[in-house]
Amino acid sequence: MTAAQSHSAQTPQSPQNSQSPQNAQNTQNDAQPRIRVAGLTKHFGDVVALDGVDLEVGENEFVSIVGASGCGKSTLLSLIAGLEDPTSGTLEAAGVPITGPGRDRGVVFQQATLMPWLTVQQNVEFALRGENGLSRGARADRAREFIGLVGLSGFEQSHPAQLSGGMQQRAALARSLSYGPNVLLMDEPFGALDALTRRTMQELLLSVWEQHRLTVLLVTHDIDEAVVTSDRVVVMSPRPGRVQRVVDVPIPRPRTLASERTPEFRDLSDEILALIHAGA
Ligand SMILES: Nc1ncnc2c1ncn2[C@@H]1O[C@H](COP(=O)(O)OP(=O)(O)OP(=O)(O)O)[C@@H](O)[C@H]1O
Ligand SMILES: [Mg+2]
Repeated sequence: MTAAQSHSAQTPQSPQNSQSPQNAQNTQNDAQPRIRVAGLTKHFGDVVALDGVDLEVGENEFVSIVGASGCGKSTLLSLIAGLEDPTSGTLEAAGVPITGPGRDRGVVFQQATLMPWLTVQQNVEFALRGENGLSRGARADRAREFIGLVGLSGFEQSHPAQLSGGMQQRAALARSLSYGPNVLLMDEPFGALDALTRRTMQELLLSVWEQHRLTVLLVTHDIDEAVVTSDRVVVMSPRPGRVQRVVDVPIPRPRTLASERTPEFRDLSDEILALIHAGA
């Protein structure tokens, strides 16, 4: 597979977008894991949040991180996002040291961080302002395309306050996907949503990932969410945060929420829950 082919298979870019300079840059190191973390340690004063974390996430892989509250999940994601500096250890994205945030890594947090004074359309377009060579019209088209992808067509001119929590998270997802990151980092993105909306959003995320293939790292408290979405589930131990176990999820894809009713699914979910309780 050529770099161009592998790129178009793995990112949520329409074909006309796939040749942008940013995306060409994103495909430089396809042989490397998308994310590599080695011997990662993070201290906040006396608190050891992470202590020697090793993790590799491959191209197009979907990996979840679970563990007790305070075990360092958000800290790990922030470090990979480049929002925090490590105390020691190695952090790489496609073989390149992570020294700060980058458009190769999109981030979605628990609360949608939309700009309240901008419409949905403007919020997504704003994220595209750094895309070299994209005209205003192309920016507007790309924003509409991704707003449609997350099922928000018709709400382009709405402001965040006029949207439900689930719709705001859809808009935040559209914004993060619009510039074609190779990696999507999500920190409890559906944690604030009601159970039904959460289900819909899980299905949306699975469908986006199945269609476009990109690397996803998802922090969640919801073990079923981790199992139904992921290729592997990383179970972290409580403070200081370490990788306690990595559980493979060999359930066939495409998966739907009906997959959760199978005995195989329940066994995996129970195993992960037992690991978290054993570590607590
Ligand atoms: N900016 C900070 N300053 C000081 N301590 C921090 C900071 N961020 C995190 N910590 C500490 O690091 C540890 C890990 O926090 P982190 O937020 O990563 O946990 P978490 O696994 O995401 O928890 P939760 O499941 O509750 O979101 C905690 O003890 C927390 O108090
Ligand atoms: Mg957290």
